[in-house]
Amino acid sequence: MNTLDLVSYGPVIPVIVIDRVDDAVPMARALVAGGVRVLEVTLRTPAALQCMEAIIAGVPDAIVGAGTVRSKADVQAAAKIGCRFAVSPGYTSAIGQACRDAGLPLLPGTATAGEVMQANADGYRFLKFFPAVQAGGIAMLKALAGPFGDVVFCPTGGITVETAPQFLALPNVKVCGGSWLTPAGAVAAQDWDRITQLATAASALRAA
Ligand code: 3PG
Repeated sequence: MNTLDLVSYGPVIPVIVIDRVDDAVPMARALVAGGVRVLEVTLRTPAALQCMEAIIAGVPDAIVGAGTVRSKADVQAAAKIGCRFAVSPGYTSAIGQACRDAGLPLLPGTATAGEVMQANADGYRFLKFFPAVQAGGIAMLKALAGPFGDVVFCPTGGITVETAPQFLALPNVKVCGGSWLTPAGAVAAQDWDRITQLATAASALRAA
């Protein structure tokens, strides 16, 4: 898979933090029921890998990627359990090499022109822009469009259902990331209907 294929599934990639393995499959089913199939499960909890394994086995319509990939060990663990892609918060050539060695498509995080150039030099043209709002938001994405006209971004960080359409309206943005589809309170309450509602609303987002 080419990571740019991910944009064809919808305008938002949820950034998911899961603590309890028992929540993984119902949460993924709730998101898929709302039309959100591409799921970034962050490697931020001890249960993350087990959660991804459970989703991969139990929710075949989900396209599961590992988020917060920071090391070669993270890459190898994600590839071993069958993740379809990886997302890193920043970019180093080492993480790119680890992903290529593991056959794992990478959506590399960038926040500066220098990081974009490093990722471009290693062959990446579809990049996460993180943390999007904190690193300059829409104005920064417009500025990056000048020198990097062939680069497509997935801004992530600080984006909401209200602001996502403004990001999606930018020519160099094809998809946004965000954690708002899986609020901690809804997950704690196992309010899967709420997550399906949020996913349905996210699926329907269009450029402003
Ligand atoms: C993250 O890495 O946590 C993502 O950027 C999500 O950010 P958000 O919670 O601001 O959507």
